[in-house]
Amino acid sequence: MALALSMPVVFTLIIQVVVASLGLRAEARAFFVFGDSLVDNGNNNYLATTARADAPPYGIDSPSHRASGRFSNGLNIPDLISERIGAETTLPYLSPELQGEKLLVGANFASAGIGILNDTGVQFVNIIRMPFQLRYFEQYQQRVSALIGEEQAKRLVREALVLITLGGNDFVNNYFLVPLSARSRQYTLPNYVPFIISEYRKILERLYELGARRVLVTGTGPLGCVPAELAQRSVNGECAAPLQQASALFNPQLVQLLNQLNTEIGDHVFIAVNTNEMNLDFINNPQQYGFVTSKIACCGQGRYNGIGLCTRLSNLCENRDLYAFWDPFHPTEKANRLIVQQMMIGPEKYMSPMNLSMIMAMDSKV
Ligand SMILES: *[C@@H]1O[C@H](CO)[C@@H](O)[C@H](O)[C@H]1NC(C)=O
Ligand SMILES: *[C@@H]1O[C@H](CO)[C@@H](O)[C@H](O)[C@H]1NC(C)=O
Repeated sequence: MALALSMPVVFTLIIQVVVASLGLRAEARAFFVFGDSLVDNGNNNYLATTARADAPPYGIDSPSHRASGRFSNGLNIPDLISERIGAETTLPYLSPELQGEKLLVGANFASAGIGILNDTGVQFVNIIRMPFQLRYFEQYQQRVSALIGEEQAKRLVREALVLITLGGNDFVNNYFLVPLSARSRQYTLPNYVPFIISEYRKILERLYELGARRVLVTGTGPLGCVPAELAQRSVNGECAAPLQQASALFNPQLVQLLNQLNTEIGDHVFIAVNTNEMNLDFINNPQQYGFVTSKIACCGQGRYNGIGLCTRLSNLCENRDLYAFWDPFHPTEKANRLIVQQMMIGPEKYMSPMNLSMIMAMDSKV
């Protein structure tokens, strides 16, 4: 049987070798990104929403110096992960350039303003909520199947790296958005957190069903320490207590969820990224990381430059590398680099059960 290769089998093998040597299957593993503005690469540029970053001074330090829809002065976390895994930057799923072989690099489905819950970010109207990000992922897989065949498409997804960043907006743009929000009347904070964690479980289970096998899941940063919250709620520059309580409840319960899912699956599919600790390092000791401040946003207005949006009319700092926060909510490229560095080589305190360089080494042997 082993020796009696039929002609069609031989042809198939030859075709596979040719396809591989032409590099039709991208050299680097594919990369998929889901979530909110911390990881959106520009999907919202194509939508009728106010949650957008496609005007200056966004992107001022990017290679093109143009605003691309990234909520950063330059590169964001997905860009820097792509850089580290030796891949091209993923395009936003809604970009018309995402065609043909570009599809093999992966895709970014993230949309600024969204959360775990459908009712998070309602004020932004047309954004891609999680059920639709996942539906687009299915559609993506059909398009890749048409390009390279179903088996190869499944393999591309199975071997891909996935990043998902959710949760911050379920507090900032839902529970705490207005003093007596619907969700805060429905739930106390200690009861709201297990509810959104149970909804997050459904999202992660669906990602697994759709073929994802290596998923970096970030917790929330210290939500009460961002310039927007300092501006609204802080008396003396201390981090705002209600939002700090939210991240203190959410992050450990998320880690617990990921451990449960990994145990059920019997493999380390979900990797917990402790973005809270990663952020706190430079928020607590900005000077040690080369920042002049971690409280004042580079671009904004009012207290801590934390009021309103970052626009052409805002105060703008001269040297973005000296600031931890670019706008009232989002880190600078410099801060993003510190975060991605810890993702790559950080100890278990930051990456559990293992860091990205370990994952890359392990997966390259499979
Ligand atoms: C969220 O919206 C999707 C799509 O409209 C729907 O199928 C789903 O049931 C909603 N989830 C919740 C928890 O309401
Ligand atoms: C993180 O990565 C480095 C390799 O760069 C490795 O030596 C180290 O043990 C890893 N740490 C953990 C906790 O996986």
